[in-house]
Amino acid sequence: MIHFEPESDRALFTSALQFAQEQVRNLVEKHPGFYPMYTSDGVWKHEGPAWTHWCDGFFPGMMWIFRKHFEPGTPDEKYWLEQAIRYSTPLESRKHDRDVHDLGFIFLSTYLRWFRLTKDPALNDVIIQAGKTLAMRFKEKGGYLRSFVADNSLFVDIMMNVGIIFYAARETNDRRLRDIALRHCLTTRRVLVRGDGSTAHEGLFDTDTGEFLKQTTHQGFRGDSCWSRGLAWSLYGFATSYEYSRDPRFLDTSEMCADYYITHANADGVPPWDFNAPSESRKQVDTSAAAIAASGLLRLSRLLHDPVKGHFYWSTGLRILQTLCEKHLADKTPGWEGVLKGGVYHVHKGLGVNESVMWGEYFFIEALDHALSVVG
Ligand code: GLY
Repeated sequence: MIHFEPESDRALFTSALQFAQEQVRNLVEKHPGFYPMYTSDGVWKHEGPAWTHWCDGFFPGMMWIFRKHFEPGTPDEKYWLEQAIRYSTPLESRKHDRDVHDLGFIFLSTYLRWFRLTKDPALNDVIIQAGKTLAMRFKEKGGYLRSFVADNSLFVDIMMNVGIIFYAARETNDRRLRDIALRHCLTTRRVLVRGDGSTAHEGLFDTDTGEFLKQTTHQGFRGDSCWSRGLAWSLYGFATSYEYSRDPRFLDTSEMCADYYITHANADGVPPWDFNAPSESRKQVDTSAAAIAASGLLRLSRLLHDPVKGHFYWSTGLRILQTLCEKHLADKTPGWEGVLKGGVYHVHKGLGVNESVMWGEYFFIEALDHALSVVG
C-alpha cells in the first residue's frame, strides 16, 4: 500500500496546520477560557444558542494535537501542553454528565490524549467513568443508547461516542459494558444504515415494546434523506467500533458508508449539507462533514485487509484534505476567526450555516495530523 503524499501535499498540510495554530492562539489570547462552538459571520463569541453542549473537548483536543508537532521542551510544545491542560482540566466533572450523549467527543479528544502522554491512572479513571456514565443511557428495550432529546430517540451521532464505552469495558474487563456497546452498534446498523450505505439521522422506538418505528431527523433535510454529517459520523464511528470489537459487520458498515460518501459527494470530495437536499439548497456544502469523512477514511484505510481498497480510501482522504486546504481555508479572509469556512451546524434552526464549526476544525486537524504523521 502506498502511504505517501507528494511534497506538495506535505507543504499544503503543514501550512494549514500552522494557520490553525495561529487562529487558535489568537482566540486563546482574545477570550481566555472560552470554549468556541460555531462562528457567526466568522466570529466565535456571540449570543447564538448552543442547542446542546457537546463540543467542549474539540478546542483542547486541537491543542493536544498541536503539541505533538514540536520537540518536547521547546517553547511551542510547552505552550500547547500548558493550554491543552488548562482547557481540559475543567471538563473533568462532565464525566458524570447524564444530559448529553457526547461523552466520547468530550473525553476521547482530550483525556485519552493526556493519559497516553503521561500514563497517569487518575486520567484513565476519568475516561472510564465517562464511559460508564454514557452506558447509563442504554435502553434495554430496543437495545440502544438514547439521544439527548428523549428516551425513544437514537441518533447516528452516538456512533462517535460509543467508543468510550468499548474503551471503559476493555480497561475494566467489564463484559456488561462491552455488551451495551456492541448492542448499540448492531441496533444503529439495523435501523439507521440503509441498504445503499446512506444513513438516517434519528430512529424512533416504542419505549414500551422496544419496537423500531421510523427514521427521522433534526439536522438533515428529511427523515428519509441522508444528512452528510450523519453519514460521516457513521463512517468514522463504525470504523472505531471495529477497531475495538473486531466484529467484521462493523467494518462492512463503515465501508458501505464510505462508498456512499465517495460516490455522492461533489467531485472535489466535499458534500452538500444533505445529499438529498433540493437543488438550490444543495449548493450549501458542509466542510465539517468533509473533515470528519477525511479523518474517518484515513482511519478506515489502515483497517482493511484489501490493500487496493485501503489505498483508495487513503488517497480519497488526502484528496478531501487537499480540497479543504485549497478552497475552504479562512486564511484569505481577514478577520475570520475560524480555520475552515463552509461548515454547517443546524440549517433548520439557522445556527452556524456557512460558518466555521468547532468539530469541523478538530477533525480537520486530526486528519492533517494523521496524514503528516505517516511520512513524519
Ligand atoms: N450534534 C452533532 C452534530 O451536530 O453533528
